[in-house]
Amino acid sequence: MCGIVGYVGHRPAAEILLEGLRRLEYRGYDSAGVAIQDVQGISIRKKAGRVSELAGLLAEQPCAGSLGIGHTRWATHGPATDVNSHPHVGGNGEVVVVHNGVIENYSTLRDQLQAIGYVFHSATDTEVVAHLVAHHLEEQIRLGKDPQDQQTALDAIELALRKLKGTYGLGILFRDFPDLLIAARLGSPLVVGVGKGEYFLASDASPLVGHTDEVVYLSDHEMVVLTAQGMSLKHRETGARAPSIQTLEQTSQDTDLNGFEHYMLKEIFEQPQTIENAMRGRFEEEEATSRFGGLNLTVQQLRRVDRIVLTACGTSWHAGLVGEYLIEEFARIPVEVEYASELRYRNPPLSENTMVFAITQSGETADTLAALRECQRKGHPTLAICNVVGSTIAREADGGIYLHAGPEVGVASTKAFTSQVTVLTLLALHLGRLRHMSHPAGKRIINNLQAMPEMVRQALKCHDAVKDIAKKYQGISDCLYMGRQFNFPVALEGALKLKEISYIHAEGYPAAEMKHGPIALIDEHTPSIFIVPKGAMYHKVMSNLEEVKARRGPIIAVACEGDKKLEALADDVIYVPEVEDFLQPLVTTIPLQLFAYHMALLRGCNVDRPRNLAKSVTVE
Ligand code: AGP
Repeated sequence: MCGIVGYVGHRPAAEILLEGLRRLEYRGYDSAGVAIQDVQGISIRKKAGRVSELAGLLAEQPCAGSLGIGHTRWATHGPATDVNSHPHVGGNGEVVVVHNGVIENYSTLRDQLQAIGYVFHSATDTEVVAHLVAHHLEEQIRLGKDPQDQQTALDAIELALRKLKGTYGLGILFRDFPDLLIAARLGSPLVVGVGKGEYFLASDASPLVGHTDEVVYLSDHEMVVLTAQGMSLKHRETGARAPSIQTLEQTSQDTDLNGFEHYMLKEIFEQPQTIENAMRGRFEEEEATSRFGGLNLTVQQLRRVDRIVLTACGTSWHAGLVGEYLIEEFARIPVEVEYASELRYRNPPLSENTMVFAITQSGETADTLAALRECQRKGHPTLAICNVVGSTIAREADGGIYLHAGPEVGVASTKAFTSQVTVLTLLALHLGRLRHMSHPAGKRIINNLQAMPEMVRQALKCHDAVKDIAKKYQGISDCLYMGRQFNFPVALEGALKLKEISYIHAEGYPAAEMKHGPIALIDEHTPSIFIVPKGAMYHKVMSNLEEVKARRGPIIAVACEGDKKLEALADDVIYVPEVEDFLQPLVTTIPLQLFAYHMALLRGCNVDRPRNLAKSVTVE
């Protein structure tokens, strides 16, 4: 939900922190700030607005120094104002903190600290952490600890952390220990980049790209002390541990725009490649099945599975709905798709042979992580379908399947959705071929899947047509999306895309549901987007389309190339290639992504940084 960066080394910290914040801005962009240790102590520069505003402030009031922390905020407590921007100062300036997460007991702690004289300036939960560390530092010194010994400062942090309830990823500086950068993690991700005589800290790996490919992921309850000379890692319960250094897969190519105007458009056009990446090395053609390297379950365990729960949020939840149709169709295993935020508290009666999949692009969504942990607590095998290697959910799940889609920077998820659907198709094939599915049936699925990158490339050719259609509808205030079976989740996904980046109210429905109420919304100002490719549901959806037309509702149809019938019925038609029903989401989603993109542009919205949103929702 917020982005944290840190640097300690031999180079000026300011530009390194700023560039890191730019790369993390997709996590939150309400305000930004840095704190840099220099000869006069710790200088802080922070303000509401984008990282570019902060860069302007630093240009006017530069900070020297080679040790610092930075933060870009998605507001949880307190509006996006200068004073609520991070970093926050504790005591009389002896402690400075940046924080990602939510301190649930901040109000009680704030009252306690105020009662003993601490003065608060902001409305944030983070300022409580800063004052609490300062309080314990003063207390340690009062109890006779050596004020010059860095252990005194570290003990103060540990004492403070024990009082916090909630989640945190923290970067901490001490005025009187100018060579220390300390970080601590509980529930919000942190990764350390290991350079040559320099160390980097970040909420995820993107700021490290180009500086180092050696990374250390922190786990919950771990604290790391970084200096230009080295790093030391300690777990609250198990004590010190040697850092396990992993190699970063990302490259700067992944995070560059490569000539596109926005990350979202770049990622939409990456989909032929990312779908191919999701399949690479996962076909067993001889056996007409698929294979995964990380499921960590035996064939016997997989055969015993009698129910599958797919849990996720947002777009990943929509991918789960496609997965439900796929797995039930191909493997005949009952599937439930659960909002993660509901599953965690719903406590459904699951059998011991229920397998749980968390579907998540970022691997850091707090609701999904909490649901996964709840299922693990009950002994269910938990797997993750995830895009970010080394993310919390990927590491905590018992096994999983990576998307290999590369970093998805646009807040609106696009390539992750189609990669998730591709992986779920492979999974359904795998499970089906372990049960009753025939070799020819498996082979047919493989052949159709292998053709999908080209089919999606064809589908992308609708771009100009969609751009023109968006111009026609840019002034609408409501929009309905309708589809059936495999395209019902696509209707939901299309509506979410439009909502989250153009701020137009949109709803997705099973097409047949229209007549059970929503059709009352139809009038000449409310367009309906019908996903009506050739296939098993074609005639049924056409009937629903006619029902809307009879009530003068404008109709945009997503149809198969050559379907001239639609031209007489719909006001606008967007053509996609004809594919098997079960693969239709991979092509019918494309025009809906592009439609949302262009509607947002026409309405002057920030496509990659839509208001009120963040890429990774690491708070519950
Ligand atoms: C999708 O466009 C949204 N940005 C959002 O719904 C997202 O899919 C959701 O927050 C889940 O994120 P995850 O896949 O990283 O868990």
